[in-house]
Amino acid sequence: MKRIGMLTSGGDCQALNAAMRGVVKSVSHSGEDVEIYGFIDGYRGLIYGDFRMLTSRDFSGILTKGGTILGSSRTPFKTIKDPDENGLDKVEAMKQNYYKLKLDCLVILGGNGTHKTANLLREEGLNIVTLPKTIDNDLYGTDMTFGFQSAVNIATDAIDCIHTTAASHGRVFIVEVMGHKVGWLTLNAGMAGGADIILIPEIPYDIDKVVDAIEARHTGGSKFTILAVAEGAISKEDAALSKKELKEKMKNYTYPSVSYEIADKIQKKSNYEVRVTVPGHTQRGGSPCPYDRVFASRLGSEAGKLIMKGEYGFMVGIKNREIIKVPLEDVAGKLKYVSPDASIIKEAKMLGISFGD
Ligand code: F6P
Repeated sequence: MKRIGMLTSGGDCQALNAAMRGVVKSVSHSGEDVEIYGFIDGYRGLIYGDFRMLTSRDFSGILTKGGTILGSSRTPFKTIKDPDENGLDKVEAMKQNYYKLKLDCLVILGGNGTHKTANLLREEGLNIVTLPKTIDNDLYGTDMTFGFQSAVNIATDAIDCIHTTAASHGRVFIVEVMGHKVGWLTLNAGMAGGADIILIPEIPYDIDKVVDAIEARHTGGSKFTILAVAEGAISKEDAALSKKELKEKMKNYTYPSVSYEIADKIQKKSNYEVRVTVPGHTQRGGSPCPYDRVFASRLGSEAGKLIMKGEYGFMVGIKNREIIKVPLEDVAGKLKYVSPDASIIKEAKMLGISFGD
């Protein structure tokens, strides 16, 4: 009998259910009896002992279901060691609940913040296996996270829809893409959607270069321009500021998001009519795409194998299309950025895409 605790933490994404199903199926398939303790709303459920007992039947029919059957919440790592409002030691409470339920291990699905806490629990002596989820694809140690490809599809659809209306009206359109502090989602959706200008945090933009790129298109006979802008895009001037100076500057920031700031700057520097579209959380919603269903199932299967072998302290990931295991201490606290020198950036530039640099 394997007693497995499971939780999904942080912002949700597509294929969380597919991944959990993969873990449970692979453990059950080995012939081992399994009891699943599903903690509700991420680490919060583990801290406060809020769980549901699940069997392998609960994981049937959820391969294609978006969201997470366990619920999720953000439990910031920054304050994980601080007592809660009633003085409860959260780390100690998680350990106590783990031992009280006599768990063999905890399966944790999450992104960056989640992995820091998962690694802390490992250091505290708990048996941990993690799976990499996030639409941002910014998790270190894996080429890809699940949720990413589904989000690329949705953001690409948004750009495709904007294309037709932009062409009719001859306007400049900005589509703001999620991705937190990295540009993976914007870069991929931007290229897939045929964006003319792609702005990502890793390549700070010069607004004059952006306007030049728009003007070059118009002089060349194109009526419209589409910009795919990452929510974390940053200008060269702001990138040159220290963290403290930027924080001070942001106190007087009045735009709803970076795209509105860029739209305003373009309008002030040119005569173009600019519109902004923000698909927002639609990018995390709906059913996982086929790639993510397969990928999350493969990861789940490998996580199941590690559990059966009693190999703990790893994240399962993918490298060169093969599923791998990476020590948690090598993953926690590191971000995977787009390298401005990556060949994909050079290839995109060869296609005429401007990064505003
Ligand atoms: O990390 C996933 C993500 O969707 C980011 O792309 C985005 O910046 C953030 O979460 C949004 O967080 P929330 O759902 O808490 O608004």
